[in-house]
Amino acid sequence: MTEVRGRREELIPSAARLLNTMRDLGYEFTNAVADIVDNSISADASLVEVTIEADGPDSWVRIADNGAGMPAAVISEAMRLGSGGRDYRVDELGKFGLGLKTASLSQARLITVASRSNPTRRIIDVRVLDLDDVLRTDRWEIVHPAPEDRPAAVVAPLQDGPGTVVLWGRLDRILNVTDPYGTRAESVLGKYAERLDQHLGMVFERFLSGTAERCRTTPLTITVNGRRVEPWDPFCLKERTEYLPEHTLRVAGRHVRYRPYVVPPQREFSSDDAWKRASGPNQWNRQQGLYIYRADRLIQSGGWSWLRGTEEHVKLARAALEFWPALDEQFEINISKMRVKIPEELGTSSRAWSPCCPGRHRSGTGSPPATPSRRPRRRGPPPGRPPVRTRPRTGGPGPPPGHRSPGRTGPGRVPPLRGLPRHRSGRRGSRPPSSRQPRSQASRTRSTRSGATC
Ligand SMILES: Nc1ncnc2c1ncn2[C@@H]1O[C@H](COP(=O)(O)OP(=O)(O)OP(=O)(O)O)[C@@H](O)[C@H]1O
Ligand SMILES: [Mg+2]
Repeated sequence: MTEVRGRREELIPSAARLLNTMRDLGYEFTNAVADIVDNSISADASLVEVTIEADGPDSWVRIADNGAGMPAAVISEAMRLGSGGRDYRVDELGKFGLGLKTASLSQARLITVASRSNPTRRIIDVRVLDLDDVLRTDRWEIVHPAPEDRPAAVVAPLQDGPGTVVLWGRLDRILNVTDPYGTRAESVLGKYAERLDQHLGMVFERFLSGTAERCRTTPLTITVNGRRVEPWDPFCLKERTEYLPEHTLRVAGRHVRYRPYVVPPQREFSSDDAWKRASGPNQWNRQQGLYIYRADRLIQSGGWSWLRGTEEHVKLARAALEFWPALDEQFEINISKMRVKIPEELGTSSRAWSPCCPGRHRSGTGSPPATPSRRPRRRGPPPGRPPVRTRPRTGGPGPPPGHRSPGRTGPGRVPPLRGLPRHRSGRRGSRPPSSRQPRSQASRTRSTRSGATC
């Protein structure tokens, strides 16, 4: 196409209108925090501490990490909508240069970011994005606050080493109650903390358990109000989950991995607590379906992405669908990283997607996955609600406070397209049968299960 010639006129968007509009990209509180945690993971943090402090209208949410931090020039660039100037790694969770701002503004009107990148010198840079200020001035401006105006809550976590702190103040979307000092406000914040604990345990399960590609050496620790977030494994691999044949699919010449499982029925769980915890935030029926991972980070938890409906008799079917950022365009990931679209190439008819066989690319080997048996054992029952931190109204300053190998491909037998039955036969175990039995017996067991289940 030929370039249109003529006089050029630059049209700078209205800062006030655009920033206000960007608040409504569809983030929920939990997704917004997860987007900030993505940044911490990209900065190689091993610890992310989320604090929700109830302090009436001055309540705040803080996400503090011990990652690489940002020097002065980078922190200003980071505050820009559509920040850029760097290449993303193949396994990087960021993509748009928006998350820090859009996720924060979706919940709060005052965003303060502090960062320290020097391990030996305590140089802390702070930037403030004040939505009300931008609405007043209609200018794309941030503030470099004077040292005495820096909130203690934002600099305190950076006293001992590098890291980044994101502080959300004026929580108009979170604290939407008439009396921010009332017990209702406190209980609202408590519920947020509880949901956040569950959500982060689910979304970052692979990072928390050390099975994600990029933190095999040092698993990530996340805390919510001081309580450690436990990983939530949708496939219950420590229970007697049944492994169905794994498939490596191709989209735009790249690999996508599909790993289906049948989690055990209630009577076969090790305890009632384990069963309750396995039901997930949306309970059994709605937690069936696809768990879509992008670079080991969960984007979608359950549901069949319009490929088929949720059904009572397949409520135990859960499958991991894993892709890497090189396929972002094909999966149409959205800004808030809450949604993807199944690429046409994978087949979109419900007939093509039985719980155990994906799409029309039938190139899987049917071999059981090797990784699950390597998963470390996890501790204990679900954590209860993390406490809400409450600061006395008259008190002093704030609180102290690579690419996964795609697996084998090639022609393989694909189980017939039938739903999961109510009665299944065959032994189950928490390990793939091939790890315990001779090959011929293992495949016999598998085909018995496949025949019985699919
Ligand atoms: N916790 C952090 N530690 C170090 N650098 C950070 C941190 N948070 C943000 N940054 C820097 O700020 C930039 C902008 O972050 P932002 O979340 O807005 O966009 P992004 O992560 O690049 O992409 P996306 O919009 O997909 O999240 C990042 O690319 C990174 O360079
Ligand atoms: Mg980001």
